[in-house]
Amino acid sequence: MSARKTEGTRPAPRSDRFLTNRQGHVIADNQSQRTVGSRGPATLENYQFLEKISHFDRERIPERVVHARGFVCYGEFEATGMIGNEPASKYTRAKLFQEKKTTPLAVRFSTVIGGRDSSEVARDPRGFAVKFYTEDGNWDLVGNNLAIFFIRDAIKFPDVIHSLKPDPVTFRQEPNRIFDFMSQTPETMHMLTHLFSPRGIPASYRHMEGFGVNTYKMVNVAGETFLVKYHFHPRDGVASLTADEAAKVQGQDLGSASKDLFTAIEVGNYPQWDMFVQIMDDHEHPELDWDPLDDTKIWPENDFPLRHVGTMTLNRNVEDFFNENEQIAMGTGVLVDGLDFSDDKMLVGRTFSYSDTQRYRVGPNYLQLPVNQPKGSSVATHQSGGQMSHYREIASGQNPSVNYEPSIHDGLQEAERRPNDPPEIKGRLTRSVIERRNDYVQARARFCTMEQWERDDLIQNMGTLLAECERDVQERMVWHFLLVHDEYGRRVGEMLGIGPSDVHEMDPLPGQVLTDEDQRRLTNLG
Ligand code: HEM
Repeated sequence: MSARKTEGTRPAPRSDRFLTNRQGHVIADNQSQRTVGSRGPATLENYQFLEKISHFDRERIPERVVHARGFVCYGEFEATGMIGNEPASKYTRAKLFQEKKTTPLAVRFSTVIGGRDSSEVARDPRGFAVKFYTEDGNWDLVGNNLAIFFIRDAIKFPDVIHSLKPDPVTFRQEPNRIFDFMSQTPETMHMLTHLFSPRGIPASYRHMEGFGVNTYKMVNVAGETFLVKYHFHPRDGVASLTADEAAKVQGQDLGSASKDLFTAIEVGNYPQWDMFVQIMDDHEHPELDWDPLDDTKIWPENDFPLRHVGTMTLNRNVEDFFNENEQIAMGTGVLVDGLDFSDDKMLVGRTFSYSDTQRYRVGPNYLQLPVNQPKGSSVATHQSGGQMSHYREIASGQNPSVNYEPSIHDGLQEAERRPNDPPEIKGRLTRSVIERRNDYVQARARFCTMEQWERDDLIQNMGTLLAECERDVQERMVWHFLLVHDEYGRRVGEMLGIGPSDVHEMDPLPGQVLTDEDQRRLTNLG
């Protein structure tokens, strides 16, 4: 039974509420160890004490290497059966989208950089990860509240995260380390422009958007493939905090966002999000001056309109934080038939990383835990054993001795193959960056759409943190901002005492290819 409230007075003993240990032995004295006399020494054969203290010693598992602080709740996704005004079947055969139907789900919202007990109003992206328990098995959509990311190749992920995490010597988050890395990585300028704008500190988890960020695919019955991006829009609207407001909130409560979400659900004020997709034909799109597989870019909504696919409602809280929040495991590899990966170089790296870390963080049988088990479909697998193995599902009519495939003795069989005909890919094995990088164009577009107060806030936030950095890092950041937009670079520079004339002779970074527009801006700096 739920034990959320504790009463002030001790209730009379009830036999169905006797405290026990994990062996089912009732406990008559939970106050004192067994000792020789009232002043000790203690005895070692006291199983009750040993079990209690040794379990306590093991209460923690490693926190997530990123997104350590987060909060889970449950709800449902109600599909419209349509993708915009067309039947969903035109683009995907995934069953959850096919008709008006409801799919149960779990969501975990999180911050990225802080540890498990850190502030929930930090300037940091927010995780927005959804586990759909579909009739075809689980689908995890592991996204963020900002539509883009810092980098576009998974091999750089440990570096960007190391720069953002505390210094390995001082254990303090150091702006100079962060901007040292960012200043050498021009593709981060778009993400930084979002992160340091007012959107960088969501007011709560209920008031933020969600984005799949990476490019995925949909596959229809005929096997045709389409590139797709996922979006969630909160019906409660988007709301953010300024740095000053956030400082006041975290002075009172580090867990303000979890509390807000939990309370809203407890009182029946269920938060809702509309879910949309953007769709592109599955090819390279040479007409664009950016690459559809580049997660540092958005797909402009005028060219690739948002198409409504359904609504997500969150209506149930967890019963146990550890079991359901610490042990939930989501990853980009967890897709259902009709949904697929693209060749986005972040997505493939992520897909390895999530289940890899979860086998370490939770254990090799993490998928047997209730929060991670599929709910709408059954499991029939030959995987067995390993630490903490519990379930062995036997399909109806299956010979339990046949734990291999193929077999002619009532073993499990392969399902029917379904068509999947993506475009052919040709190329040499290489290590190279994508061609259409255009690192400043969308940061500029974003800056241009900002209202004056948003620009003021961005520049104030950016300049304040950069003021803690060394001069060479500051100069390179001002150089990038000047290439994004004159006002951006000039005003951040003014906060640091760095003018265009101080940086106009700087060369581009090694390997950096400037567009004609970038080159023109660079020339004008002089
Ligand atoms: C969590 C790796 C990029 C969103 C994690 C975790 C790892 C990881 C190891 C911890 C998972 C766990 O312990 O259960 C990576 C790598 C990336 C990458 C290698 C790039 C190559 C991204 C991007 C997004 C994102 C681009 C946003 C779309 C998340 C979220 C979580 C997470 C939301 C928390 C999941 C949860 O709540 O359990 N990531 N990540 N990550 N990542 Fe990433």
